[in-house]
Amino acid sequence: MKPVSNIIITIDGWSSCGKSTLARQLAKKLGYVYIDSGAMYRAITLYFLRNHVDWTSVKEVEEALNSIDIDFHYNEATEKSEIYLNGENVEYVIRDLVVAEKVSDVAAIREVREFAVAQQRKMGKKKGIVMDGRDIGTTVFPRAELKIFMTADNAVRVERRFKELFEKNPNITVEEVKNNLEMRDYIDSNREVSPLRQAKDAIVLDNTNITEEQQLKQALKWAKENLSQ
Ligand code: DC
Repeated sequence: MKPVSNIIITIDGWSSCGKSTLARQLAKKLGYVYIDSGAMYRAITLYFLRNHVDWTSVKEVEEALNSIDIDFHYNEATEKSEIYLNGENVEYVIRDLVVAEKVSDVAAIREVREFAVAQQRKMGKKKGIVMDGRDIGTTVFPRAELKIFMTADNAVRVERRFKELFEKNPNITVEEVKNNLEMRDYIDSNREVSPLRQAKDAIVLDNTNITEEQQLKQALKWAKENLSQ
């Protein structure tokens, strides 16, 4: 499908609600760019961990951010814009639990958010973009034409994330995954700087009991309603 006009679509919500799956499929159908904003926070966390950055020190954080270059390149095979940290493809390594355990702390740092949000806004300049995250409809693109807020039952989210992580690490336990999700949701929704919130004008999509196909169909309908306005 060719884009009729370009709009900005934001998809926010809790961890492991399937935001990225929907965002990727939606972008493909509309011929839009898909940007996974969480990948940016994960890549920054990876850099901090690898370089032993003390992120309680503003000075160290600022210095580290000055050395970070983040880029996305489309991979035809995965049909995804993959993230590059200083020229290295880190799309897969940023999904490890080591990064997941620290990312919410790093994403709560004001300087880190300012750095990421500035880049996210640049990417949305031409519109024609689907971006998923936690604060995209509230802070990054408060005037986006379509805002979706995703949610699903906790047990379903844990099961989905467990399946995903178990493929890479068979030693992982359901308990570890559950604790990590709960901890991230707590930190993400209680932090001082742009906490996870449902934007007032967002539409809620609960996908506990619907299939990927059904959620895509619904989101496409909403997108088309906005495109034709
Ligand atoms: O979507 P994700 O699980 O890959 O996100 C990783 C972390 O990054 C998540 O715990 C919260 C944070 N995040 C954020 O604070 N703001 C965003 N726009 C996206 C992600």
